[in-house]
Amino acid sequence: MKILIVGGGNMGLTYAKSLLNAHIVTKESMMILEKSNEKAEKIKDLNVGTVFGEPDAYIKEADLIILAVKPQDSDILFSKIKGFIDHQQVVLSIMAGIPMTKISSALDCQKIIRAMPNLPAQVGSGMTVYTSSVEVTRIELVMVQNILNSTGKTIYVDNEELIDASTAISGSGPAYVFFYIQSLIDSAQHLGFSKSQAELLAYTTFKGTINLFNKHNFSCEEWISKVASRGGTTEAALNSFASNEVKAKLGEAYQAAFSRARELSE
Ligand SMILES: NC(=O)c1ccc[n+]([C@@H]2O[C@H](COP(=O)([O-])OP(=O)(O)OC[C@H]3O[C@@H](n4cnc5c(N)ncnc54)[C@H](OP(=O)(O)O)[C@@H]3O)[C@@H](O)[C@H]2O)c1
Repeated sequence: MKILIVGGGNMGLTYAKSLLNAHIVTKESMMILEKSNEKAEKIKDLNVGTVFGEPDAYIKEADLIILAVKPQDSDILFSKIKGFIDHQQVVLSIMAGIPMTKISSALDCQKIIRAMPNLPAQVGSGMTVYTSSVEVTRIELVMVQNILNSTGKTIYVDNEELIDASTAISGSGPAYVFFYIQSLIDSAQHLGFSKSQAELLAYTTFKGTINLFNKHNFSCEEWISKVASRGGTTEAALNSFASNEVKAKLGEAYQAAFSRARELSE
């Protein structure tokens, strides 16, 4: 199987490395199309596959084409590679907000898989939600499933709308988590800890909480009640969250991410 990754940025390189680590392809079977000369030179040094700067007939050799450029670069990309795409090729797009109908008409192809991964894919702890067009065969779907599984957990959905929804939750989610961790770090420093102490407090608390969550079968609300005793310090913080409507405000932020994903789709 030959794979072409289009866009050698954060996500494109994550797939290149995961595919090699999982022995799904060899570097002889991996091609990367990257338009930036500077990035292309750096990718060549990584020795993960053959690097190209311009589309050409080699694109036809790929059994699977992974589209990993920014959504705003997709129109130019489509116009550049359209002439080299074959009906038998499977196209896997991880671009936020670009619907399968658009990819199909822009590239004149039918076998499309649309996936929404997230950045922890870089360390094999990603969350990917994906869907496919009816033209993708079962065997092709299993092939792509293996590729996505090499970066973490996956969920298949029939409804493409859920891809935009997952963009707002798990796709953008790592940024929300870092935002929250940073708020703990800032407050710890404000309360007198050094920067490195504050980072240790915040990261260890976060990691420990996730480990705890994974070990037992309690809901978040049940865990909160175990930490917060009546009239105590945690309850004071939770009351402040409630009176400032923090949960509702966060909900508005996730909704804004979803609306932006829908806007991009249109
Ligand atoms: N990063 C995330 O956490 C994340 C999560 C889920 C989904 N995604 C999706 O993944 C896609 C890639 O994101 P990213 O963070 O990896 O972006 P990125 O780091 O900017 O990588 C995109 C790469 O594609 C190159 N490129 C642009 N147009 C090209 C063309 N016509 N031919 C070849 N290469 C081209 C860019 O070069 P230049 O730098 O020269 O423009 C850049 O190196 C996006 O569509 C995004 O929605 C990202």
